[in-house]
Amino acid sequence: MRHDPKLATRPGILDISPYIGGEAKAPGVERPIRLASNESALGPSSRAMAAYRALAREIHRYPDGNTQELREALGRCHGIDPARIVCGAGSDELIALLLRCYAGPGDEVVYSRHGFLMYPINAMAAGATPVAAPERQLTTNVEAVVARLTERTRMVFIANPNNPTGTYLGAGEVARLHAGLPRSVLLVIDAAYAEFVNRNDYEPGIAFVNRAENVVMLRTFSKIYALAGLRLGWAYCPPAVADILNRVRSPFNVSAAAQAAGVAAVEDIETLTRARAHNQRWLPWFSERLAALGLPLTPSVANFVLARFPDDPHRNADAAFAFLQSRGILTRKMGAYGLPQHLRITIGTGPEMAAVAATLAEFMAAL
Ligand SMILES: Cc1ncc(COP(=O)(O)O)c(C=O)c1O
Repeated sequence: MRHDPKLATRPGILDISPYIGGEAKAPGVERPIRLASNESALGPSSRAMAAYRALAREIHRYPDGNTQELREALGRCHGIDPARIVCGAGSDELIALLLRCYAGPGDEVVYSRHGFLMYPINAMAAGATPVAAPERQLTTNVEAVVARLTERTRMVFIANPNNPTGTYLGAGEVARLHAGLPRSVLLVIDAAYAEFVNRNDYEPGIAFVNRAENVVMLRTFSKIYALAGLRLGWAYCPPAVADILNRVRSPFNVSAAAQAAGVAAVEDIETLTRARAHNQRWLPWFSERLAALGLPLTPSVANFVLARFPDDPHRNADAAFAFLQSRGILTRKMGAYGLPQHLRITIGTGPEMAAVAATLAEFMAAL
């Protein structure tokens, strides 16, 4: 794309490669199996859908600019102070706002090499320099992150569990990471997939925010709560960080529909429990099928797996992606994450997982 030099952007903007989302369509297939964006397998809570529908008569009104009811529901659910919660149009908006507030030209933002792409993209959009810390076995490496700190570092972002690798850091590792940061560096723990994790040593970040002035936890309604289309996320912050975010966010950044559905979803414990149980059943089932096909995969604690394909051009990740797509199954290529030999596959419904497993078996057997 040619850009008119008279309309110069801020430095760094033209270095950004746009984020490319997962495919939603497969040519010639009316209802593809969509496993490209880590969306919910089971769909939204019926209570959230009812709240969304009930709002239709009120959409001429501006939403509550303070997201009061939603923050109170989240406060009750997690045992935290609603005054320290800031809601956003997806956690993507909160990532962008945090970077805009705490990093700028000349500053560095450290993230894990195969961490969520919106961290480097938004760091660059804010004029800051993203710095990738290498990983160990596709897992955030605390020593490597700490080793990348300089006097210019303002923020560290980790996704825990991480997308796209599915790996996580236990609370002891997060504590070690936090202990390695100076007070002047803000640690953002993005726990988008927290509800799926079934490990005793995992803590999503609440305990860290409770006891430190320089830690923020991000959460989303796009994954287990199945409201990705409404765009809703939240940050649990030290009071001073909440104050900063409230100064810069737009006054009505969360739609009324998202707020209404969000409150109903938080209160619908039964649907949450069902979604968690579904993942706990199908994640190991699918992981075992892939292993049996000789496809190494990174052990995942989230609602997706990262599968590594052979280097052979007939069996590599691009060939697998195309084969699956030709059968109406959409997965995610990982080249943009520096993992071109891998595909990320979301845990869908039982029949969807059976279909992917069978199609991959066919792909691996074919020549
Ligand atoms: C780690 C991580 N953080 C944040 C997001 C963005 O979520 P939202 O839909 O709330 O913007 C995603 C979405 O894939 C994610 O994987």
